Amino acid sequence: MVFGKNKDNAQTSDHTWDVSDTSPYTDGPLLEVQDLKMYFHTRDGVVKAVNGVSYTLDAGKTLGIVGESGSGKSVTAMTLMGLINMPPGKIEGGDALYRGKSLITAKEEAMRSIRGNRIAMIFQDPMTSLNPVYKVGHQLAEPLRIHKGMKKKEAWAHAVELLRLVGIPSPEQRVKEYPHQFSGGMRQRVMIAMALACDPDVLIADEPTTALDVTIQAQIIQLMEEMQKKSNSAIIMITHDLGVVADMADDVLVMYAGRPVEFGSVNDVFYKPSHPYTWGLMGSLPRTAQDLTEKSDLQPIEGLPPSLIDLPSGCSFHPRCPYAKEICQQEVPDVVTIGSSSGKTHTANCHFAGDPNFTKENMEKELLSTKVLTEERDA
Ligand SMILES: Nc1ncnc2c1ncn2[C@@H]1O[C@H](COP(=O)(O)OP(=O)(O)OP(=O)(O)O)[C@@H](O)[C@H]1O
Ligand code: SF4
Ligand SMILES: [Mg+2]
Repeated sequence: MVFGKNKDNAQTSDHTWDVSDTSPYTDGPLLEVQDLKMYFHTRDGVVKAVNGVSYTLDAGKTLGIVGESGSGKSVTAMTLMGLINMPPGKIEGGDALYRGKSLITAKEEAMRSIRGNRIAMIFQDPMTSLNPVYKVGHQLAEPLRIHKGMKKKEAWAHAVELLRLVGIPSPEQRVKEYPHQFSGGMRQRVMIAMALACDPDVLIADEPTTALDVTIQAQIIQLMEEMQKKSNSAIIMITHDLGVVADMADDVLVMYAGRPVEFGSVNDVFYKPSHPYTWGLMGSLPRTAQDLTEKSDLQPIEGLPPSLIDLPSGCSFHPRCPYAKEICQQEVPDVVTIGSSSGKTHTANCHFAGDPNFTKENMEKELLSTKVLTEERDA
């Protein structure tokens, strides 16, 4: 369980949000993460789980976050929600602004009014958000009573509707049951219903459909998209499935070892990927439903992600990068701007990303070897 109150990072700022204010936010991005750093201080050393993550997200838009296991995707999301136990966690720098105000320094009381209501999260592990001692209906109805001012009967009726929407059979009966009476996939759906209940401004979906079959996956994604259209919500979609990102996302953030390595519009990152890690990832992750069943064309990136306690010098990817030069071991690469499209600046953190020849030649070689480009050209 990661639920917990910040202790070290005293949430001192007395700013608060008007949670009934669902008007469009026009003074900047709805969510802005600025060089955020979250480290865990453990007996073995300092785990640099989130080490300088930045991105912006506008209302009505979807950001896909991809990266290998352990790259800091979930910890970044949990940090925004104020759900990391501190200690061992500690914010070492940066900020995250929602509607222009810091989520990092907000008082816990302010965060309680935001969490699950204006910013909701579908967790990777359903039991993180389901309480085993309360009926599912109670857990769905309570936020509706607290945040939406519904009476008990109305909230329970709405809970039944939400269960129906996420495809739970006999919702009138199931609403009276406890989480342990649901299978893993059904619990996942309950959690999705909880996250959608209050029509959040920002929905963070952490591998939301992993435990579900393909048909239910499609239904859930459709539900999220309908909610997005209705409420102009922003969605952060954390996933290992590049097909889902291609279908849903406007922008993509690629993470490696706690850092962003590439960011931009989905078109730029998918069709002009500029970081050697992104090339490797595209060849190793499923892009279509067929890839999930026929894994033969997928080639894992050689080597393993580094220890976040003892990161390699320079570019963290250098021990695995086929293009590494001496400078890669010595200097952390700056953020290189490659271009922009759909209002998003395309950036990559690689010493050579600014060289169009390096990118073009090597990207084609890498992606042709995994048939990604040929399939796209043939499509
Ligand atoms: N409480 C903690 N104490 C120490 N290290 C932690 C803690 N929680 C997470 N970590 C570490 O932080 C790193 C990032 O974890 P995170 O869960 O964000 O990865 P992820 O990108 O979501 O991976 P996955 O794709 O497997 O879900 C991992 O190395 C993890 O072991
Ligand atoms: S900076 Fe060097 S090691 Fe890092 S991705 Fe670029 S070429 Fe590879
Ligand atoms: Mg995760």
